[in-house]
Amino acid sequence: MGLAKVSSFLLVILFLINGGSSTTFTIVNQCNYTVWPGLLSGAGTAPLPTTGFQLSSSESRLISIPAAWSGRIWGRTLCNQNETTGRFTCVTGDCASSQIECSGAGAIPPATLAEFTLNGAENLDFYDVSLVDGYNLPMTIVPNGGANGVGKCNTAGCAADLNGVCPEQLKVTVEAAGTTGVACKSACEAFGTPEFCCSGAFGTPDTCKPSEYAVFFKNACPTAYSYAYDDGTSTFTCSGADYVITFCPSVSSI
Ligand SMILES: *[C@@H]1O[C@H](CO)[C@@H](O)[C@H](O)[C@H]1NC(C)=O
Ligand SMILES: *[C@@H]1O[C@H](CO)[C@@H](O)[C@H](O)[C@H]1NC(C)=O
Repeated sequence: MGLAKVSSFLLVILFLINGGSSTTFTIVNQCNYTVWPGLLSGAGTAPLPTTGFQLSSSESRLISIPAAWSGRIWGRTLCNQNETTGRFTCVTGDCASSQIECSGAGAIPPATLAEFTLNGAENLDFYDVSLVDGYNLPMTIVPNGGANGVGKCNTAGCAADLNGVCPEQLKVTVEAAGTTGVACKSACEAFGTPEFCCSGAFGTPDTCKPSEYAVFFKNACPTAYSYAYDDGTSTFTCSGADYVITFCPSVSSI
């Protein structure tokens, strides 16, 4: 068999193994700068064909996602490969793998996270965009072609650019980028107290209330997680959908 035939044969086999229920993610970069998406599979779920790659401005990439996959996707910014050491590092969202592939390493906060549990309870897909670990760039999840009437299938995420308007105590700046800000920490990361981190005595939805900082994130991004117990307005469900994950979506899209 030729290579093309072998690969279509393998695709058919994969399709049969999956029962054809696999999902496609389309990752789109509408930022006017390069983003390096990072992908992390949850413990015990099938690995993805890639754990990190470069996505230039206006570029998009389709990724076939195994059934019942769970995990997260984020964007790394201001990345560079050191010419002497060959180490690949990013100013925001770095996964510290020293390479473009994250290979099982997660994002170092602050980073905007797209989180998925596909084919979860009642065979629904659960998804959200979380600012619980802070924020580094605008990101939305838009479901496509979900089964009618199953789940809410709404757009989730944060289309706003918060790096400039981030409260001073949370703002991350680097010399090379001037004073504009390249990311915005969560209050938990900035202050580390149980009250902001929803830990210890504040470890339940009843005792951990949204701080002024969580309110700042929520006002700017009503369909993203602003703190740990923000489930009601931040978790979405859909079924049988494909998902478009966009960095820097146009603000009118949400
Ligand atoms: C990217 O967009 C921002 C905000 O719209 C703008 O200030 C900046 O000049 C743009 N940068 C480039 C390289 O086009
Ligand atoms: C590359 O790595 C070397 C060794 O760690 C370091 O001294 C140098 O500053 C790095 N170069 C850049 C451009 O970051």
